[in-house]
Amino acid sequence: MSVKPKVFITRRIPDAGLHLIKESTDAEVWAGQLPPPAAVLRQKVADCDGLVSLLTDAIDAAFLDKAPRLKVVSNFAVGFNNIDVKACTERGICVGNTPGVLTDATADMAFALLITAARRIVEGHEYTLAGKWKTWEPLGHLGQDLTGRTLGVVGMGRIGYALARRCRGGWHMKVLYHDVYKNEKAEQELGATQVDLDTLLRESDFVSLHTDLNEKTRGLIGTEQLKKMKKSAVLINTARGPLVDPKALSAALRDGTIFAAGLDVTDPEPIAANDPLLKLANVVIAPHIASATVQTRDQMAEICAKNLIAGLRGEPLPAWVNPEAAGKRRQ
Ligand code: GLV
Repeated sequence: MSVKPKVFITRRIPDAGLHLIKESTDAEVWAGQLPPPAAVLRQKVADCDGLVSLLTDAIDAAFLDKAPRLKVVSNFAVGFNNIDVKACTERGICVGNTPGVLTDATADMAFALLITAARRIVEGHEYTLAGKWKTWEPLGHLGQDLTGRTLGVVGMGRIGYALARRCRGGWHMKVLYHDVYKNEKAEQELGATQVDLDTLLRESDFVSLHTDLNEKTRGLIGTEQLKKMKKSAVLINTARGPLVDPKALSAALRDGTIFAAGLDVTDPEPIAANDPLLKLANVVIAPHIASATVQTRDQMAEICAKNLIAGLRGEPLPAWVNPEAAGKRRQ
């Protein structure tokens, strides 16, 4: 009987994927609710053939150097900014992610944040809970309309497109987008117009971020960019926290430079208990839960497992971040 490959999984993932992994590998699952400390993870992976990582696990060159047998890193996320992909490729390690299956759940979350922030729903809820609701107020709780307004999508990939489709189809919004690539489908089906970032910021009522985090996009939205936005605008971030300068955002929300923000991601994560953003009424913050539906997480687990197993068997990964590693895979 051949020995099963050794795998470490940095957190319990849904059984839909876990069962598949356990069938064909010798897997250890980190049982803690918090991520394994970096030193523990390094030690766990030292003799592993495969790793299932989360976006909270930093997989960098120094880490990889301590994992001489590692053939595959299967990230339980679509984003992979936690992994040094170039360092993996150089070492012949395959990297997998979970694209596609979380598109709708994430676009739903972006839209939920958009309408919640625009209509001040959380503020209203807190007002009710605090016993402040005394009467119907003609001038109280005024938010922003959605119908016929302009949505600006920064990064018109799968999720940006899915949000734009909701806003165009349901709320008849005009769609602007900023991306290095032209998105023909968005232009033809949604009438979307590709513009530079400044135009998008100036003309949009809702600005939603859907771009990768990399060295070019870190701090994409800072004081200067926020100043270009309308005073009535709402900023939505369901992508990665560091796309936005948090100090600049709290200042802009405090002094009325923009109307509101809806965030599913922050910088850092989790947000610090004393972060000035937490003192503001015009920001809604969710704890990075855009893909958190039962079905989506099951599907993510399944793709993640299939990526891992393919990586261990020397087969092409179903969702392969670095196919350029193909020629130099570790045996
Ligand atoms: C979540 O943020 C993901 O990248 O899947």
